[in-house]
Amino acid sequence: MFHKIPDICGKQIALSVLGNRNTTLGEFIIENQGSFQYSSGELSKLINAIRLAAKVVNHEVNKAGLVDIIGRAGDTNIQGEDQQKLDVLANEKFIQTLRNREIVCGIASEEEDDFISINSNDEQHRNKYVVLIDPLDGSSNIDVNVSVGTIFSIYRRVTPVGTPVTLEDFLQPGRNQVAAGYVVYGTSTMLVYTTGDGVNGFTLNPAIGTFYLSHPNMEFPETGSIYSVNEGNYVHFLQGVKDYIKYCQQEDGDRPYTSRYIGSLVSDFHRNMIKGGIYMYPKSSVSTNGKLRLLYECNPMAFIAEQAKGLATDGNIRILDVQPTELHQRVPFFCGSPKMVQKLQEFLEN
Ligand code: AHG
Ligand code: MN
Ligand code: MN
Repeated sequence: MFHKIPDICGKQIALSVLGNRNTTLGEFIIENQGSFQYSSGELSKLINAIRLAAKVVNHEVNKAGLVDIIGRAGDTNIQGEDQQKLDVLANEKFIQTLRNREIVCGIASEEEDDFISINSNDEQHRNKYVVLIDPLDGSSNIDVNVSVGTIFSIYRRVTPVGTPVTLEDFLQPGRNQVAAGYVVYGTSTMLVYTTGDGVNGFTLNPAIGTFYLSHPNMEFPETGSIYSVNEGNYVHFLQGVKDYIKYCQQEDGDRPYTSRYIGSLVSDFHRNMIKGGIYMYPKSSVSTNGKLRLLYECNPMAFIAEQAKGLATDGNIRILDVQPTELHQRVPFFCGSPKMVQKLQEFLEN
């Protein structure tokens, strides 16, 4: 069923809202606060802060071609990657918003060498959550007007409140996440998140700056016909991955599958969750652990995937069971419709 939400020009924006009214993200957070097992309102406040930062970053991303914020910032991050101006800006906006609202005790980001402690050694501060973020995902796409994203992952700290936050609070296996989500700055801007009770997607009406529940209870189709991988790296992949790619290309039944690769994990994942597909960033002879980072890329996406009835593996074990050892650790990543991931697994085992 389609609901019409008026935009500022009096035109109508159609959102396919399956409910019988236009729930806003703000309302949804309040209504669902009770279903969260450690409900104290703190997590709701935190998701609200992320909602606000997402709107600010959205505003910056949308004017990227108009002001001097595209191109390289001139620095590299700890992983040796060139930082784009928008990487730096998005990082600042998220950290600023979370810091100002005094809502978390620590933040780790792709763009920061080390984690940031926020008043965590002050007895007055009882905040128990840490956030890990990829502020701008797919940043090589910024300059060419292709969709990018933000990814976030939330844990309860394991060390006592009122003591300094430690690395241990960040190096938790993904299965401990209490919430995770992403924002996709695409043809429309969407915020998709889970608190462990399914996955819901909200679309931003930019005219009034409000996110509306447009995609309730998102689920991966059991199988699909899209495979997403950077095939330029093909010769460096393990034989099992090469064989699976060949299987995707063979003519048989519902195959060949379609190849779709944007190069923004968030956007590739989002499309595959809606249409059915598999995303792969395997290890290769040149990048022995793949490229994607466990803590702020793979874990949040794996949590969302599993909550949406999909699967996520590093090729050997479930992503959510990988024990992290470093903040910026990389892992091979295979994620998507359950039947497709299972099929890939068969090839890897052979
Ligand atoms: P980031 O921009 O945060 O560094 O992430 C880029 C990641 C991911 O979004 C994408 O899927 C992948 O890198 C693309 O890598 P290749 O260009 O090697 O395919
Ligand atoms: Mn990324
Ligand atoms: Mn990034």
